Amino acid sequence: MNTATTIPVIAIDGPTASGKGTVSARIAKQLGWHMLDSGAIYRIAAFAVLKAGINPEDHAHALELIRKIKIRFEDDRAFLDEQDVTQEIRQEHVGNLASRLAPNAELRAALLELQRDFKRAPGLVADGRDMGTVVFPDATLKIYLEADVEARARRRYQQLVIQGKQTKLEAVLADLQSRDARDMEREVAPLRPAEDAQRIDSSELSIDETVDRILSCWEAVKQ
Ligand code: DC
Repeated sequence: MNTATTIPVIAIDGPTASGKGTVSARIAKQLGWHMLDSGAIYRIAAFAVLKAGINPEDHAHALELIRKIKIRFEDDRAFLDEQDVTQEIRQEHVGNLASRLAPNAELRAALLELQRDFKRAPGLVADGRDMGTVVFPDATLKIYLEADVEARARRRYQQLVIQGKQTKLEAVLADLQSRDARDMEREVAPLRPAEDAQRIDSSELSIDETVDRILSCWEAVKQ
């Protein structure tokens, strides 16, 4: 029997600041499963491009670099080669650059196997934009977590304030809107619900309520 196909995957896709990162981590912990934060992989790739001083519009050069770097995670820390970049990749400009690089089909292909390697027993919770559509099309459960853009902007703004960052709610909202447009309108692996995804709107839900909903969906589909 091919065990790789019997390992369950819960794919959780959705737009920026929909809460899917926190929710996915909580579900993985509760089930005792592995977790893939695919956005972190795109962020590490973007950070590598910035660090090397490569013009992000120079796709060939950026791709050449991304094929060479080593991306890995260890105890919740993110590494680019031997450098711990856990903090650096969370910066807004790194997330933005990740979203600008992400439409490139060859770059996405270069990161595909790395993501699929996260599927290990006893199970995987995969968080991203194309987990249910491209990376794990055979996922046992596919969730599309959405929330209206104003609710997401308020959440992101509060996070930034707590981190002591100076910003305006309007600027956060505008940034989310342009990132949504880029992620949804790109031709390759755009952000969209898989046909067999269950959609959950978390605009009015707490993290706990969202986690409970997804766990109930999981209880309903697991054998
Ligand atoms: O989830 P995040 O904000 O950390 O992701 C950063 C960017 O990476 C996101 O705006 C688009 C890209 N990304 C992607 O294209 N596909 C994924 N599966 C995850 C992230």
